Amino acid sequence: MLIFNKKSDLSAFLSPLLNQNKSIGFVPTMGALHQGHLSLLKKSLLENDVTVMSIFVNPTQFNNTEDLDKYPRTLERDVQIMQDLSNNIIVYAPEVEDIYEGYTASESFDYDGLENQMEGKHRPGHFDGVGTIVKRLFEIVKPSKAYFGEKDFQQLQIVKKLVSKYNISVEIIGCPIHREANGLAMSSRNERLSEPAREKAAIIYQILNSAKEIFKRNSVVETHQFVENEFKKHPEFQLEYFEIAEETTLLPISEKESNKKYRGFIAIFIENIRLIDNISLN
Ligand code: PAF
Repeated sequence: MLIFNKKSDLSAFLSPLLNQNKSIGFVPTMGALHQGHLSLLKKSLLENDVTVMSIFVNPTQFNNTEDLDKYPRTLERDVQIMQDLSNNIIVYAPEVEDIYEGYTASESFDYDGLENQMEGKHRPGHFDGVGTIVKRLFEIVKPSKAYFGEKDFQQLQIVKKLVSKYNISVEIIGCPIHREANGLAMSSRNERLSEPAREKAAIIYQILNSAKEIFKRNSVVETHQFVENEFKKHPEFQLEYFEIAEETTLLPISEKESNKKYRGFIAIFIENIRLIDNISLN
C-alpha cells in the first residue's frame, strides 16, 4: 500500500494514471476508520481502476478547538485496517502545511442556502471549511467518483452543490449509513464515548425510528414534540436540534406536502460529545 504525505508526490504518482484514462475513486476522511468508511472504500475499489483515500483532520471545519484537539487520530491503526482490506489503496495523509501552505483559513462558499440550516446554523463556518478542503482535495486527486456517507447528509448535499456550482468534474456518490449492532450510527466520534454511553446512545436511532412512525399519522409539530419529550426522559442527553426538512433544499417544514421527500435530522450531546444522525421519514 502506498502512503503519500505530500500533494506533489501524490500528483506525480497519479498523473500518468490519469493520462492513461484510469478512473480514480476517492474517499475523503478524517481517519479513525470504522466500517462505514470501509464500505465506501469497498464500493470505490469495485467501481474504479484506482482508489485514493485521504486522512486529514481538517482544522478549518472545526468551530470548537476542544473538538479539534480531541478528534481521534489513529493513523497507524487506520493504515493497518486498510491493509487488511486491500493492498491497492493509495493513502494521502498530509500535514496541515501541505494543504494550507502557511495560511490555515477557509474560503467562503455560497451553497444556495443549504449552509444556513442545521449543522451550518449550529457550527458557524463549518461548511466553508468543508468546501475548502473538499475542493482542494478534488484538485489534487482529480477523481472521477467520490464517496460520502449519508450520516453527514447535509454535507453530502453541500458537496453535490459545490461540484455543480464550481463545475468540478466528479460524480458524487452517497452511501447508506452504517450502524453498530445497537443501531448507533457509526462515527469516528463514537470512539470518545464511554462503553455505557455508547450503549445508551442506541436510543437515538430508536427514537428516530419511532418518530418516523409518528410522522406517518401525525403532524410535523406532534413529531417534534414526541422527539423532544422522549429525550426529556433521558437527561444524560442534551438535544441540540431535531429538524424535519425536505431532502434536497434542507428547508425545515411546518406542514407536509405530497410528493416531497422528508428526513428527520438530529444533533445531540452525550458526555459532552456531539453526535448526529438522520432518517428518511417517507
Ligand atoms: O466527513 C468527513 O470526514 C469530513 O468532513 C471530510 C469530508 C473528510 C472533509 O474533511
